[in-house]
Amino acid sequence: MTKLIDTFGRAHRDMRVSLTDRCNLRCTYCMPHDFAAWMPSADLLTTDELITIIKVAVEEGIDQIRLTGGEPMLRPDIVEIVSRISSIDNAPKLSMTTNGLALAKLAKPLVDAGLKRINISLDTLDRDVFKKMTYRDRIDDVFAGIKAAKEAGLTPVKINTVLMRGINDGEAISLLKWALAEGLNLRFIEQMPLDAGGIWDRTQLITADEIFTTLGTEFDLTPVPDRGSAPAEEFYVNGGPATVGVIGSVTRSFCGSCDRVRLTSDGQIRNCLFSMAETDLRSILRSDISDGEKIESIRKMFHSTVAAKLPGHGINDPSFIQPNRPMSAIGG
Ligand code: 5AD
Ligand code: SF4
Repeated sequence: MTKLIDTFGRAHRDMRVSLTDRCNLRCTYCMPHDFAAWMPSADLLTTDELITIIKVAVEEGIDQIRLTGGEPMLRPDIVEIVSRISSIDNAPKLSMTTNGLALAKLAKPLVDAGLKRINISLDTLDRDVFKKMTYRDRIDDVFAGIKAAKEAGLTPVKINTVLMRGINDGEAISLLKWALAEGLNLRFIEQMPLDAGGIWDRTQLITADEIFTTLGTEFDLTPVPDRGSAPAEEFYVNGGPATVGVIGSVTRSFCGSCDRVRLTSDGQIRNCLFSMAETDLRSILRSDISDGEKIESIRKMFHSTVAAKLPGHGINDPSFIQPNRPMSAIGG
């Protein structure tokens, strides 16, 4: 039973853990291609510090952990991290969101270490569009990574796609055809105002409704009931069992059933992607109080952070202000 319940009655069970803000792609909706303001390594949590925090979170009822980045596989000890989380008492369900570049090499060791599920980001099937969107010519590595993830037994393999107007928005149907043929679980995510470059423009947003309408010209979509706290609205494709998800983060926000907290790679907890405040756990861990006091203090911080959670992200309010960290530094 989770003990992390906010003032709106939302029970928190899911923690997104960013392992690094670094990435080997430069998706334009996430960071500028010439981004260089990386966090200093000394600011990143060590693996011991990370495990200490995760253990407290699990004791407070977090039962799902998703490792993110930046690109989580750039963390040199990623396999060890997965293995250590998997061997915690009451081990949480563990998944990862990745760009897939390192999966050809790491899928098998990660599964052996306890990883069960994976989300791979891929916005296009076209090499040139991939290059344009990520500033790197590496689409083949992503395809190799997807293949390796399936062969290693990760199930389901989910694909996250962000559509951008005039760039890859013509690919919704071909991406879904491909995903169905490959046995992959595709989800489209509305682009959120989280890029460090400030390129987000509401008037250019490809909305969930638009995606649904486009897919409806080719496929018969029927809603899957029981969404729970999942951000994606899932639809059976042509009667199922295959499904497609649409995540309307902006136009159909799901804040009312949010069960997530976030830990940044430099040890800050955030109660929302869009929150303006963070709680600093790293300085507690690096202070000279006793280990027992550190743990109790971290426990209290989880509770106060969850207690301070606002009802929603407010993207649609005139007073909305974009958070000062990009997605790559918060963790998706
Ligand atoms: N809006 C929506 N999704 C985003 N992602 C990264 N930045 C954004 C954004 N601005 C997605 C990535 C990845 C996941 C972590 O979040 O595509 O799949
Ligand atoms: Fe890297 Fe993911 Fe950001 Fe793309 S969205 S630049 S893969 S962290």
